[in-house]
Amino acid sequence: MVQNNHSEDQAKVDKATSISLSSGIHTHAVHTSWALITEQSTYALGVTNEGYILNLHWGPRLLTLDDLPVPLLPPDRSSQDLLANAREEYPGAGGLHYGETAAKVLFADGVRDLDLRYQRFEVEEADACDGLPVLTLFLRDTVYPLLVTLRYQVDTVNDLIIRSATFTNEGSDTIRLERVFSAVWHLPSQYTPRILTTLAGQWSEETRIQRRPITAGTALVESRRGITSLQAAPWFAIEPEHNPFTPAGQHEVYFGALAWSGNWAIRVTGDVNGTTVIAGGISDHDFVWQLGADESFATPDFIAGFAFDGLNGARQRLHRYTRKIVLPQPQAHQPRPVLYNSWEATFFDVHESGQVALAERAARLGVELFVVDDGWFAGRNNDRAGLGDWYADPHKFPQGLGPLVKHVNALGMQFGLWVEPEMVNPDSNLYRAHPDWVYFFPTRPRSLARNQLVLNLGREDVRTYLFETLNRLITQHAIAFLKWDMNRPISEPGWSEYLESGGEAREIWVRHARGVYTLMDALRAHHQDLTIESCSSGGGRADLGILRRTDQVWASDNTHPEARLLIQEGFSLELPARVMESWVTDAGRGEIPLAFRFHVAMLGALGIGGNLLHWSAEELDEAAGWIAAYKTIRPIIQEGDQCWLLSPHATGGALAAVQYTTDDQDEAVVFAFQRSRVFGEPLLPLRLQNLQANARYSIENVTVSLKLNEAKNSAVGPAQSLSGAALMARGLTLPLEHRHAYASCLLKIRRLLP
Ligand code: GLA
Repeated sequence: MVQNNHSEDQAKVDKATSISLSSGIHTHAVHTSWALITEQSTYALGVTNEGYILNLHWGPRLLTLDDLPVPLLPPDRSSQDLLANAREEYPGAGGLHYGETAAKVLFADGVRDLDLRYQRFEVEEADACDGLPVLTLFLRDTVYPLLVTLRYQVDTVNDLIIRSATFTNEGSDTIRLERVFSAVWHLPSQYTPRILTTLAGQWSEETRIQRRPITAGTALVESRRGITSLQAAPWFAIEPEHNPFTPAGQHEVYFGALAWSGNWAIRVTGDVNGTTVIAGGISDHDFVWQLGADESFATPDFIAGFAFDGLNGARQRLHRYTRKIVLPQPQAHQPRPVLYNSWEATFFDVHESGQVALAERAARLGVELFVVDDGWFAGRNNDRAGLGDWYADPHKFPQGLGPLVKHVNALGMQFGLWVEPEMVNPDSNLYRAHPDWVYFFPTRPRSLARNQLVLNLGREDVRTYLFETLNRLITQHAIAFLKWDMNRPISEPGWSEYLESGGEAREIWVRHARGVYTLMDALRAHHQDLTIESCSSGGGRADLGILRRTDQVWASDNTHPEARLLIQEGFSLELPARVMESWVTDAGRGEIPLAFRFHVAMLGALGIGGNLLHWSAEELDEAAGWIAAYKTIRPIIQEGDQCWLLSPHATGGALAAVQYTTDDQDEAVVFAFQRSRVFGEPLLPLRLQNLQANARYSIENVTVSLKLNEAKNSAVGPAQSLSGAALMARGLTLPLEHRHAYASCLLKIRRLLP
């Protein structure tokens, strides 16, 4: 570890600054500055004589440390705004900081002015948690005993910088933290306008792509609901506006995502000088944290990156990072099983014989994991009662869950269960025993949403109760999988007892999210093989924070294939295919061919959610064929690079095409969808990506033969094979029937041996 640039260990300090830089963290020999070099980008920062840390560059890779500018404050043009254009890495609120700030605090004597200056740095070659190089900068307030450390983790392969900050109170008086963002990012200023892309939605309509120009002012995306939220996803991308004078092929994208599942905010600010600044982290809405003597507060990670190859390049970088670094190991590299979920088939009408009948059909289709959704626990006949009482309903399961679990296991499937641990219905034994365990203000009614209240996971007794209850359930029934739901936002965020004991009740937003993390971490530590799906009325808790302890996400309650394509395209900008659970249900049945419905669900981790007792023998046969086909290409989908070749967002949902490619580019699969070609217009060739130009590839159209109940491959078109160059430059004619509504295809592309 390099301690600082005045220490004896100067091994990693680049003396010969003109040497072409390798990937990693480089320290300038003369100036206090650093270059974080990734395969395709450089992020550089340095310290001014006054002790301010400035961003010096973020974008295409620089070759030598000589390329870095000297860290200097810009000339003061207006004599009132010294720091406005200073590109500070972590500006504190106070002094002449009128622009975006990263942190705001209140000291015990009433001073509300934070003045952070650089002290020293450390470089680690590989950190203990993720094995990535890390630069840590130490800053202190000029007067008060407040230490702030800024962490820069570098994913050199994926061109990502992962930033966070930690506040430590080194004195004896409590310091009130009022904003503690994870990072402030500065894009290079430019003359031409930029476009901001974000993801917004609502129940049944998550991750819809939103695009708007960045102008002077701030665009704010955030959640104030105590969860990541259905309404906005903590992700952004910024691209140049299409401009005919931009060099062809240049498509630089800055993008980022927050690893946090509570209230969050991402603020994108432009000004009249063409600057773009992004600030984000835990939302400062209704946020205060009391930092006592010797206590520390660590922010979540804010991951951001630079891609020269457009939104597909950005999505692939985030996906690779998520698969390699974020997702729990070793599950992250095991195939996600094909699951069956009973929700849409039975809703609350869950009972042993019905579930057994579904399980038998599911097993015959090739399903590997059978999940009983809501409705299995005590008193749960509708959504008005039962939440909190996590034991099998004695009327529905007279001998408990045991016989059903045994039956499912005997059919060769694992068993999974739906739970909603953070919730309680007033009509439950748990609430009757502990009405004080929820968030509430004593003088206000407790607002119900879906007839339920939120348990205060800041309380240790609540967490202990939930751990013991869930631990017992998992142990008793060898439960392999939990669908962990969270169906309402937090309201009346009060905690009287904490307040009375001198605590700050506004901490609950953070304490709740941390409470969920702690609980999940403890359960996983006790049950190494357990996998968890994160659900919040669909995709309301899908982020890189929850994915450190969950294996997949339920992306939306909307399972209609047309809606799903749009939702999934947005989802895929942030999160990879292997975490996106996607079911074939009865939505669209009778209207949309089963093949189309399967192809849409196969874009992620395939599941079945329809009522199999109503499916005809032909439907069941075809479904078995598609499941078998999925299993053969599952590694390419779940581990490969994803590319949206035709964006349904851009075509208004009429056409879509997605390609997945293995790391070595030897194999790919392409899914294409056509809702309709109302004018009978010709289908244009589809240009693929990510192949080896010189290699030859076979192209097979995967279809399912109903008789044989298995997948069949046939060559596409007259050409048996094409070169990678031809597939990428000229493209492929898709085997989609002329004028056919809801036509789709699945193509297997395989490199032929020379
Ligand atoms: C939420 C989930 C659904 C289902 C129901 C059960 O709405 O998103 O998938 O589990 O709860 O009540």
